[in-house]
Amino acid sequence: MMNIVAAAELGDIGGDLLVVPVYEERVWGPGAAEIVASLGEWVEDYFDGLDFTGKVGQTAAVPGTDGFTRVLFIGLGAEADADTLRKAAGIAGRAAMRYVKVVTTLSQIDLDGAGEAVAYGFILGQYTFDKYLSNPKPAQTTDLVLVGNVADSDIEHAQTVAAGVTLARDLINEPAAGKKPETLAGIATEIASDNGIDIKVYDESEIETERFGGLRAVSLGATNPPRMVVFKYRPDGAEKSLALVGKGIVFDSGGLSIKPASGMETMKTDMSGAAAVYGAVQAVAQLEIPVNVIGIAPLTENMTGGAAQRPGDIFTARNGKTVEVLNTDAEGRLVLADGLSLAVEEEPDLIVDIATLTGACMVALGKKVAGLFGYDDDAVALVEAAARRAGEKVWRLPVEKDYRSKLDSPIADVKNIGDRYGGAITAALFLAEFTDERPWAHLDIAGPARAENDDGYISKGGTGFAVSTLVALAEDMATS
Ligand code: BES
Ligand code: ZN
Ligand code: ZN
Repeated sequence: MMNIVAAAELGDIGGDLLVVPVYEERVWGPGAAEIVASLGEWVEDYFDGLDFTGKVGQTAAVPGTDGFTRVLFIGLGAEADADTLRKAAGIAGRAAMRYVKVVTTLSQIDLDGAGEAVAYGFILGQYTFDKYLSNPKPAQTTDLVLVGNVADSDIEHAQTVAAGVTLARDLINEPAAGKKPETLAGIATEIASDNGIDIKVYDESEIETERFGGLRAVSLGATNPPRMVVFKYRPDGAEKSLALVGKGIVFDSGGLSIKPASGMETMKTDMSGAAAVYGAVQAVAQLEIPVNVIGIAPLTENMTGGAAQRPGDIFTARNGKTVEVLNTDAEGRLVLADGLSLAVEEEPDLIVDIATLTGACMVALGKKVAGLFGYDDDAVALVEAAARRAGEKVWRLPVEKDYRSKLDSPIADVKNIGDRYGGAITAALFLAEFTDERPWAHLDIAGPARAENDDGYISKGGTGFAVSTLVALAEDMATS
């Protein structure tokens, strides 16, 4: 892990790279004017030539001075909030990959939590998934110095949450062949034993005897057996409890309602909800947040083997409701049905499920914003506030009861698809059948779970979206 420390002032620390901020119209941020003065007159001319004005994320690198090999100027735009800082620090982190000791004055910006935002963005900006490359180019940075008044606890918090996000990204980016349900359950067991978390893993026979009918139905077409992972983090002094349920489809072929080849290319990422649960549970335990957390991850492939469920088949979910499966590609909601039913049995104060659930949600909100659903305004507001604090974009969509009849089946309690309209909403309505009217929020992360390109502290591929929001939510519940 990168060693991150705070230093009261720039003084003569020195290092391989110094990162200093610049506001729009080239208004120098903390430390920048001094560095420009010591570099010399040419810098302004050089920036004119580059048209470097200090727009958010713009960078300009110059030879070093004052004990640094190089200096990187980074734009913050007109005004910096925590989101801008995380983003700028992410870009700086990526630009700093080959420098061993990096020092930055970004953390001197006068904003609550500046140091934490910079540390978080910088760590995640350096993320790479390179285990399958013959010639990996891992980040060389071993030391990051944050200039300014930064508390050690803020640094530790950033490192712990970023480690949770990194864990989630690694799991999401892993090819499906390398993350069979058994393998993922094994990783969960390790996380649990390393962090004082209780865990129960249900194997395929227990999945049957414990009546996890949705998970079983989806798993029928797969050769690799399913698993149900249940983490229980029960710290001393906890008053509230939070249940997290993450969709863990390690590969979504669509099942017999098979996807076209192009639609399958990214479907190893269909366990991003489960990955977010792993990352959040780990971080909550490491931060010793005094709230009970139950982390539930139904894990299976959705495949087309000879024993696969057929369109028209009916199964009984854990809570006793029967479901007619008319499209086997709407499988996430089937495994969540059991996960939510199990969560309800624990009687938590709040249930949140996280799932790459519908293409329709991406049509509605695009790739960077998650859909947020729920009947309970307080529950939804809690998640909304946590997401804002975490810098993750969510937008509420309605669980419109008028559309519930779209899910009516003539031969079962509910069917698993609606019509062609409002697909993200009908999916949420389906999930609501398994929440027993308890406080519940649903995050459809089909869009933001994956990124097409590097973007600030987000890296191409699995993003680890929702880990940070879920940690913030646990913190808010612990203090309310
Ligand atoms: N895993 C997909 C949703 C998805 C699609 C996530 C694209 C990320 C990118 C999910 O299981 C699915 O296939 N949903 C169907 C539901 C439909 C059959 C009602 C969809 O959205 O098309
Ligand atoms: Zn599907
Ligand atoms: Zn899916």
